Amino acid sequence: MSHHKLEVRELHFAYPDRHKAVNGISFSARHGESIGIIGANGAGKSTLLLLLMGILLPQKGMILVGDVEVTKKTLPMIRERMGMVFQNPDDQLFMTTVYEDVAFGPRNYKLSEKEVEARVMTALDHVGITHLKDRAPFRLSGGEKRAAAIAAVLSMQPDILIMDEPSAGLDPKSRRRMMGLLQSFEHTKLITSHDLDMIYDLCERTIVVKGGEIAADGPTVEILADEALMDACGLELPFALQNCPVCGSKAMPQQHQHSKK
Ligand SMILES: Nc1ncnc2c1ncn2[C@@H]1O[C@H](COP(=O)(O)OP(=O)(O)O)[C@@H](O)[C@H]1O
Ligand SMILES: [Mg+2]
Repeated sequence: MSHHKLEVRELHFAYPDRHKAVNGISFSARHGESIGIIGANGAGKSTLLLLLMGILLPQKGMILVGDVEVTKKTLPMIRERMGMVFQNPDDQLFMTTVYEDVAFGPRNYKLSEKEVEARVMTALDHVGITHLKDRAPFRLSGGEKRAAAIAAVLSMQPDILIMDEPSAGLDPKSRRRMMGLLQSFEHTKLITSHDLDMIYDLCERTIVVKGGEIAADGPTVEILADEALMDACGLELPFALQNCPVCGSKAMPQQHQHSKK
């Protein structure tokens, strides 16, 4: 379905203080692809996502969603197709109850209140927080807030889901749950994270960003196993690809036996 394709061409962006955060990034994503975007702090990952969403506008280059260029004029249409979960859920939740926050997007589509309710309840159920629907978002725990922020995006039924550091600050159980959720989202996903084990599990393709440029773009299994590349970009191999902590073997602990000597 080519109309869901995302294409980024020679994107450049500098903040008002002239700091160049994105320096000629180009890539394209097919519908249904799951792409991890990794890189050290300050590499330009969040800026790239904000450009994709049209929250920041590039000084040079362009972004196409299907055949539509992201501009001020096309933003309302673009936002119906792309949903972004921000790094900090507090930037996303601003209503008095979780229900109201999750209903905010669908209400903008001028759906009937009945349709809005159906979407809200489905999204809350999906992330497992129907019991929190009448709670005030600012009183929730970190994991609950993130679940509410994800529900607020899912209720808009986007074709492309963009997530900035979705597992940051989650306890292991909430992280697993969130990963299961992302796995079940069958449309295009772009996920930035320092959680390289999550990227390893969720994304078949990984883009490495360094100094606002793409340092590598390829199959996740190859990128994350490339020790020299990871080191040069201020990253470490995910646990799943590190040597066995007991005997130093290249294979993962569950794939080999230690000698008893
Ligand atoms: N609002 C801002 N004003 C000026 N510089 C910024 C702003 N936000 C981010 N930057 C700078 O842009 C660069 C890229 O930042 P960011 O996209 O947040 O990186 P990442 O998400 O990879 O950690 C960094 O050097 C950062 O300091
Ligand atoms: Mg960031």
